[in-house]
Amino acid sequence: MKFPKKTLDDLTDLKGKIVLTRVDFNVPLDSSQGVTDSTRLEAAAPTIKRIIELGGIPLLMSHMGRPAGQVVEELRLAPVVEPLSRLLGCPVKAARDTVGESARQMIDSLQPGEVGLLENLRFHSEEKQNDREFSRELASLGDLYLNDAFGTAHRAHASITGVTEFLSPAVGGYLIEAEFEKLTEVRDNPERPLMVLLGGAKLADKLPVIKHFLEQAEVVMVGGAMAYTFALARGNSVGESRVEPDFVDEARDILENRDRFKGELLLPVDNLILDTTSDGQRIKTTTTDSIDEGWEGMDIGPKTVEKFCQQLESAGTVFWNGPFGAFDYDERFARGTRKIAEKLAGLEAKVVVGGGDSASAVKQSGFADQLYHISTGGGASLQLVRGVELPGFKVLDDK
Ligand code: 3PG
Repeated sequence: MKFPKKTLDDLTDLKGKIVLTRVDFNVPLDSSQGVTDSTRLEAAAPTIKRIIELGGIPLLMSHMGRPAGQVVEELRLAPVVEPLSRLLGCPVKAARDTVGESARQMIDSLQPGEVGLLENLRFHSEEKQNDREFSRELASLGDLYLNDAFGTAHRAHASITGVTEFLSPAVGGYLIEAEFEKLTEVRDNPERPLMVLLGGAKLADKLPVIKHFLEQAEVVMVGGAMAYTFALARGNSVGESRVEPDFVDEARDILENRDRFKGELLLPVDNLILDTTSDGQRIKTTTTDSIDEGWEGMDIGPKTVEKFCQQLESAGTVFWNGPFGAFDYDERFARGTRKIAEKLAGLEAKVVVGGGDSASAVKQSGFADQLYHISTGGGASLQLVRGVELPGFKVLDDK
């Protein structure tokens, strides 16, 4: 589906105008504050460059982490300045605050061909509260508004929605346009059969997604720590594995009503488990989906990998969100996720990966280039593929 909102391409002359641009630079940092994955910077670059080409001055604003309304030194946006400047080939000037005197001074010093960067929006609690006065203050810094922060488009925060009450035009950037068009293919028009892989730890977040796709897709394969709550709901022992007791009933309800759904639900048939008394040393593979006391499930086992991979062979479209094991915790638990990524890379099917951990897993596996689309948004992509309207899209000017 074509993006129904105005974009940067609907603007012609931006000469001398400050384009207040919401980006998602919530990027991972290492212990020395180095950016370990610059995908989100790269993804925003085409829009920023185009603003400059059109004579405008991009004034970027982003959040980083969840600092809960106070200044947290480790969550300043300073670490992105150098990689961003290198990527864009132009100077990036950063302010020490998001609004107020230091922001204004930085903005006043900006020349055409330069980029301004405001400090972490979430150092101000008003950002998440979508506070009207804060929105007005942000809006006063620019001449028009552009949103290219796909990863945060599901949040109704001041820099995403509130600001549009005070600034016009309000348009989208190339990243959110591309994300919308690729993800709505999965939603509206998938090549059948549609197969959905859902992993990750939190069943609480994924239950609505599982239910949605059991209605819409031909096959839904569930792995990751979420699967242990399903195993418990089936009456299996799960040892010391991570489970969500509050969701066992809902998981049981899904299992008992499996036949009512259009889609087939596939769960792990074996697991890679860790002896919790062995100081992380002893691991083994189960032969069933039961886990003994004293052991914790860490990854899907080889039989599950084989079963999921076999299914995937006939897929027309695949949507994947969430890793199948604790891949970023220990290399030994990355096998299931890697094997699935490898399989997806070799398929004819259109493979769309929802952001977050599954996107990093695909990138780490080295197969990213072979897939149809890797989203920069985790929560945002899950909402979009389920047909939930994103607040950040709704407020932009209609085409
Ligand atoms: C993300 O990384 O998913 C986005 O940047 C949104 O971050 P949030 O979940 O803290 O709002």
